[in-house]
Amino acid sequence: MTAPKRRIAMFDSGLGGLTVLAQLRRQIPDAEIIYAADTARVPYGDRPLEQVGEFARDIIAHLLTYEPSLIVIACGTSCSAFDALGYPPSVVTLLPIVDCGVVAAAQATKIGRVGVIATAATVRSGIFERKIRELLPQARVTSVGAPKLVPLIEAGNWLQADADAVVAGYCTAFGEAGCDAVVLGCTHFPLLRPAFENALGPGVSMVDPAFICAQRAAALLADNASGDGSLTFLVSGEVEPFVRHATDLAGPIAASARVRAVDFSDEVKQPEHR
Ligand code: DGL
Repeated sequence: MTAPKRRIAMFDSGLGGLTVLAQLRRQIPDAEIIYAADTARVPYGDRPLEQVGEFARDIIAHLLTYEPSLIVIACGTSCSAFDALGYPPSVVTLLPIVDCGVVAAAQATKIGRVGVIATAATVRSGIFERKIRELLPQARVTSVGAPKLVPLIEAGNWLQADADAVVAGYCTAFGEAGCDAVVLGCTHFPLLRPAFENALGPGVSMVDPAFICAQRAAALLADNASGDGSLTFLVSGEVEPFVRHATDLAGPIAASARVRAVDFSDEVKQPEHR
């Protein structure tokens, strides 16, 4: 019997998952990747967790029709919703990005003062504090909700000088608390890496969960058969701006993608194989 292929499904509310996609592609070049972007309903971070949980369940049901070997939850807010409400049943492993961020943060801090910057919904859920303290019981965690960043990025303004000032404003709390590591708990935020580097300064580790996430995915799929290295975007909102922004941000990785317009709230009927 041949092993199932390295076929990874992943999802985010929009462009944020590209930070995870880039690492997955680097570490598992032959993976077939199906990336769902729920741009019709972005941002998730201002919504109640119950609603985010419903959206994320619909997306997972849709992604399962592609028969992936793994589903990466490349959205911290969706992880927060599932953590609070329970994960949906799934025949394949679900890999939550928050768990990867927690491990990366615990590795990065030397003094146990950890900052978390994430969506308002994620911060309200307390998921990072709880999980970081499971690994580092003495940790002091400072959390900041940053509702302005996702709309800025989705509008294509990730290079705008304004991002610097907004990010710097959010990061003052980390300096005051003496954090030596700050985890970017929303997958959109590493798209503003230069602004975060400026705001945090050289003495603070900026923790992007994507690297460990891709390492875990690679380990989980080590015994699977090679994929064809393809990428498919499933986009619920307007396709053209998403593809343009994704290509600007992820370059050749995104440029060759197949693209499908989908409605994740549609009832899932038939498997949709290519
Ligand atoms: N990128 C997602 C996250 O990691 C969602 C951001 C949003 O839609 O507000 O939380």
